[in-house]
Amino acid sequence: MKLKWSSIIHKNVFLIKLISALLITVFAFRLFIFHSNEFSPFFASVTGKFEAQFLPPKVLVPENEDLIPQDIEVEKCDLFSGKWIPDSLGPIYTNNSCGPFIDGHQNCITNGRPDSDFLYWKWKPHDCLLPRFDPRRFLQLMRHKSWAIIGDSISRNHVESLLCMLSTVEEPVEVYHDKEYKSKRWHFPLHNLTISNIWSPFLVQAAIFEDSNGVSTAAVQLHLDKLDKTWTSLIPSLDYAIISTGKWFLKSTVYHENAKPVGCHNCPEKYHLEELGFEYAYNATLRNVMDFIAEEANSKCTVFFRTSTPDHFQNGEWHSGGTCKQKEPVSDDEEIELKDVHKILRNVEIGQFERVVKEKMSEDGGSLKLLDFTGMLLTRPDGHPGAYRQFRPFDKDKNAKVQNDCLHWCLPGPIDYLNDVILETIVTG
Ligand SMILES: *[C@@H]1O[C@H](CO)[C@@H](O)[C@H](O)[C@H]1NC(C)=O
Ligand SMILES: *[C@@H]1O[C@H](CO)[C@@H](O)[C@H](O)[C@H]1NC(C)=O
Ligand SMILES: *[C@@H]1O[C@H](CO)[C@@H](O)[C@H](O)[C@H]1NC(C)=O
Repeated sequence: MKLKWSSIIHKNVFLIKLISALLITVFAFRLFIFHSNEFSPFFASVTGKFEAQFLPPKVLVPENEDLIPQDIEVEKCDLFSGKWIPDSLGPIYTNNSCGPFIDGHQNCITNGRPDSDFLYWKWKPHDCLLPRFDPRRFLQLMRHKSWAIIGDSISRNHVESLLCMLSTVEEPVEVYHDKEYKSKRWHFPLHNLTISNIWSPFLVQAAIFEDSNGVSTAAVQLHLDKLDKTWTSLIPSLDYAIISTGKWFLKSTVYHENAKPVGCHNCPEKYHLEELGFEYAYNATLRNVMDFIAEEANSKCTVFFRTSTPDHFQNGEWHSGGTCKQKEPVSDDEEIELKDVHKILRNVEIGQFERVVKEKMSEDGGSLKLLDFTGMLLTRPDGHPGAYRQFRPFDKDKNAKVQNDCLHWCLPGPIDYLNDVILETIVTG
């Protein structure tokens, strides 16, 4: 490099001037680049990518591509490791702006939850900034795309959160529901975006004998080696899927493999079956789910596997008077431990995810990504409906005994921030 320069200098003074002029231009351009990134390199790199992909191919950046300093590329940030910090902006939607999409049991504000501090916290990853969810940007990115959020009622909770956030820009139209209104599909006509919610609480084939209040009349019959076609048949037509399950595996269940009963969990003695434990069944199920996703790795669908979310029932469970009366996130100097059942579920989830990536996927997981929100949501005991799963539960009697929900999440509420992280994951690749 040096040699070349000096020989040129000796040869031609005019060329020197030309080169100096060029250098000044280059320098000015670099300065501009640095300057525009000075404030927030992370955000800038995100914007850069976004523009490169979605604006008409403007020549400015590509032409000077070799001038963009390498060090702008920011190390990948772990979006799942962070803390909740105060946020005076609050949620991007309200119970009023999202009336039609919020399930009554999660519409805490309408139901009269008196405190609102729980709305004013945002998720802050330790090593980077997480941009506030931008529904306009999401819709632009997802033009002509098809999404499905697959799993149990937490997945439904999540879909409703996403619909609420997006409906601040475009109102989705419900275009399908199954007979029992458990699976639904919405379309955003202006962006031609489709979002489905697929009800498949076990992800494998299951016969469930339960009324709408969750009271079961017989043990679930679960086929650990047969994936539920309601979701598997959809995968090839999707661009993005978020798959999750968890809590349903704790129910009384008879397990089948090769079309024969092989054991059970918590089932009545009359079945004369070996207690295998829900960990066995969850592991077998997720092994099949992950193997299926690996086989589909060449389809266009990006699959996010979301870890199960923790509940915060205290002094009891769903049906035994458990409550959650916290009004704030768990602070830095407090401790909260994952309950044993959640530890077991999460270990199986992480174990099977890591196994399939190691055995069958490219090193970074390729089209399969892990959404490990367990820790993020563990620190939000204040985000559940609690008693306010019912409309104005204490109007008639302020000491009324009401069933609490410390499992699902208020809308608006902490579950909204899953979408901030998911959008960021997509944008940063
Ligand atoms: C939103 O909540 C407020 C306060 O509880 C209530 O007055 C209003 O009716 C709610 N709106 C909807 C659409 O539920
Ligand atoms: C809408 O998106 C789907 C893919 O999800 C595509 O097949 C279809 O052609 C699109 N429709 C229009 C009108 O662009
Ligand atoms: C789960 O399955 C894997 C094989 O996929 C096995 O190595 C592991 O021991 C199993 N774990 C449990 C708890 O059964």
